[in-house]
Amino acid sequence: MRLLVTGGCGFIGANFLYAMRARHPDWRLVNLDKLTYAGNLGNLRALEAEAGAHYAFIHGDICDRELVTRLLTEHQIDAVVNFAAESHVDRSIDDPAPFVVTNVLGAQNILDCARRAGTRRVVHVSTDEVYGSLGPTGQFYESTPLAPNSPYSASKAGADLLARAYHETYGQDVVLTRCSNNYGPYQFPEKLIPLMYCKATKGETLPVYGDGANVRDWIFVDDHCRGVELALTQGRAGAVYNFGGAAEMPNIEVVRTILRLTGQDEGLIRFVIDRPGHDRRYAMNFDLAAAELGFAPSVSFAQGMERTIAWYRANPDWLAEVQSGEYLKFMDSWYKERA
Ligand code: NAD
Ligand code: TYD
Repeated sequence: MRLLVTGGCGFIGANFLYAMRARHPDWRLVNLDKLTYAGNLGNLRALEAEAGAHYAFIHGDICDRELVTRLLTEHQIDAVVNFAAESHVDRSIDDPAPFVVTNVLGAQNILDCARRAGTRRVVHVSTDEVYGSLGPTGQFYESTPLAPNSPYSASKAGADLLARAYHETYGQDVVLTRCSNNYGPYQFPEKLIPLMYCKATKGETLPVYGDGANVRDWIFVDDHCRGVELALTQGRAGAVYNFGGAAEMPNIEVVRTILRLTGQDEGLIRFVIDRPGHDRRYAMNFDLAAAELGFAPSVSFAQGMERTIAWYRANPDWLAEVQSGEYLKFMDSWYKERA
């Protein structure tokens, strides 16, 4: 398999690349990443050092038609897994435009270039947030109508519809995955779990939006990566697969878990003004992925949180570099080493 992974320097993409390298040492992995604030070349240092000709990094934009076409043809790519995105809801509320550019136009460019190049399959990685918000009961199914509430989820839904249209119109082999909230190593500390870890370890206050009763379903990142791998290798063309962690939890419980694991006091919790359009509850039904792909989450929330906190504890330099902006310099040294 010659696989193009986009957004591989981000949180899930990096975990996915390590997992694919470990499980498929004969695959050739090409990583296309624009290195936005969320992309960290340092995440892949160990992979780059070890994988030799089985791994290549390309610095570029998924919106760049010429570049994507050249990569697909020159590397004779069999399949693309598109992780590249602007991914943070709060940033999308501040400025939606980059979300539309990368998440909609970039995704469309990937679909289009792959179609024209004859690439066998595109796996487009989406999110449960496209379904909108649930009340106290019920779950999201693949057939649940899309009702996104943030500019982020609206842009992801736009790409989902294009992926569907490319399959219906051109018969293109596209598989769509929608997953719940991920956590684990390499997650950028703007997202709930690493943000709260950083604040707790510094003894700073923890800002919980609204009443803290918003519910998310949490999945350890390795389980999501396994789901994407199954969609890639065994998914049905044109299918949509939900993935979840079977770990629904109100935000306040997540924050309390972090305080417990870091030995900090609940007095650090501060309820702050709510996020506009804040979805109340997400819950995933992943029976289809279980039946067709054999997908099941293997890591419980308790295990996953212990592993995650242990990883952040063992990697203070990673966190310090990310927080200081030092990680952005990896790109300069990467170019210098290759000049
Ligand atoms: P992330 O923000 O950590 O990483 C995104 C990566 O994409 C970065 O490396 C960034 O540099 C790169 N990128 C951004 N714009 C690009 C462009 N135009 N061209 C090339 N590269 C670009 O995101 P993540 O949390 O790893 O999420 C990856 C994917 O999974 C996204 O599509 C997201 O919507 C989806 N997803 C995330 C979650 C979650 O909980 N994090 C849950 C479900 C689905
Ligand atoms: P986040 O990690 O941003 O993921 P998403 O919005 O994609 O679900 O947020 C997870 C939940 O945590 C969400 O309900 C918003 C909440 N949250 C806070 O309460 N405080 C914070 O500082 C952040 C970043 C998120």
